[in-house]
Formats: sequence, C-alpha cells, structure tokens
Amino acid sequence: MEKIAIFFGPLNGSVHRIAKLVASKIGTDKVDLIHITDASPADLEKYDRIIFGISTIGKDTWQQKFDNTDWSHFFPIVTDFNFKGKKVAIFGLGDHITYAYHFVDSMGLLGKTIKNNGGEIFGKVSTEGYTFQDSDAIVEGQFIGLPVDEDFEPELTEERVSAWVDSLMKTF
Ligand SMILES: Cc1cc2nc3c(=O)[nH]c(=O)nc-3n(C[C@H](O)[C@H](O)[C@H](O)COP(=O)(O)O)c2cc1C
Repeated sequence: MEKIAIFFGPLNGSVHRIAKLVASKIGTDKVDLIHITDASPADLEKYDRIIFGISTIGKDTWQQKFDNTDWSHFFPIVTDFNFKGKKVAIFGLGDHITYAYHFVDSMGLLGKTIKNNGGEIFGKVSTEGYTFQDSDAIVEGQFIGLPVDEDFEPELTEERVSAWVDSLMKTF
C-alpha cells in the first residue's frame, strides 16, 4: 500500500513531537514525515492519504496570513491545491486555557480550505472530553480533526493520539 504523508509545521515544537507520535502509532515504515517548509505542490500530489499537523499561534498572527510561521510559505500552496480524490486528516495543537475562545482555530481554517478544494476529511473528533469556549475547528458539532493540548493536558495526549489513529486507520 502507498505511504501516508504527514505534512507538519513548525519544526522542533509540539506539532513536530506529535507528528512523530502519530507516525509511530501508524508505523514509521508506512509514513513519510515532511516538514512543510520543504514541501511543494508536487509533494502533495504524490500522496493519496495526507495528514496535516498545525498549531494555532494567535488569532492576530493567523489573520495576518501566518506571517513569521512556517505556514506562511505552505498555506498559500494548500489554498491553491486541488484535493479532489485525496483523503485528508488533521491534528491541531492548541491551548484550551489561555486561548479558550480560539481553541485550535487554525485546524478549522486549514480543514475548511481543504474541504472547499475537494478534499475528503477523515478523523473528525467529538468535543466530549475537551473544555473550551469557542473554536473555529468545529464543523457540524465535531472537531474537524484531532485537538491536542500539550501545554495544559499533556497527560491526555498519548491516549488521544492512540484512539484517533486507531479509529482513523479503519477508513483512511
Ligand atoms: C503567541 C501564541 C499564540 C497562541 N494562540 C493560540 C490560539 O489562538 N489558540 C490556541 O488554541 N492555541 C494558541 N497558542 C498555543 C499553541 O498553539 C500551543 O502552545 C502549541 O502547542 C504550539 O505548538 P508549536 O510549538 O509546535 O507551534 C498560542 C501560542 C502562542 C505562543
């Protein structure tokens, strides 16, 4: 079977750590881990199953088109890419205490963009077990991907990622 790609950014933080954890749960031999600043549309084209890893770094930054984040390079590529025929899943890092009103917002923006561009989103997650006030990542009552809070709930990460990968891989 063809490999799954995990496109992630930024490097060397929580997103990177969780990208490696997701890869290990799927099986590292079945996954290509690709840092987004090294990625082009041709790289997206190569894979039929794509997982994205992203963090939310502030509503202000986000609205300024991700200036000063790795995503400033890659988000325009995603915006212009035709995801028709691609299976896509997303995990998003956030902080449910400090940013309770914008919890993992960027995962929502990314997911909606991919959906608008024809991608089929897998791995939606129930809001049960998460505490927050508002999130742009909720679509039809569910998170569009897996929220992970390494800042205030790191003890839940392993279980959340395991359950997500197990459920995702049944249909992905
Ligand atoms: C300046 C700044 C703004 C942030 N804004 C948000 C936010 O709006 N929503 C959210 O859920 N998390 C927010 N966070 C929390 C990060 O998403 C979280 O710490 C994440 O684990 C960072 O992962 P990274 O180090 O891989 O980028 C913010 C963090 C920082 C430093």
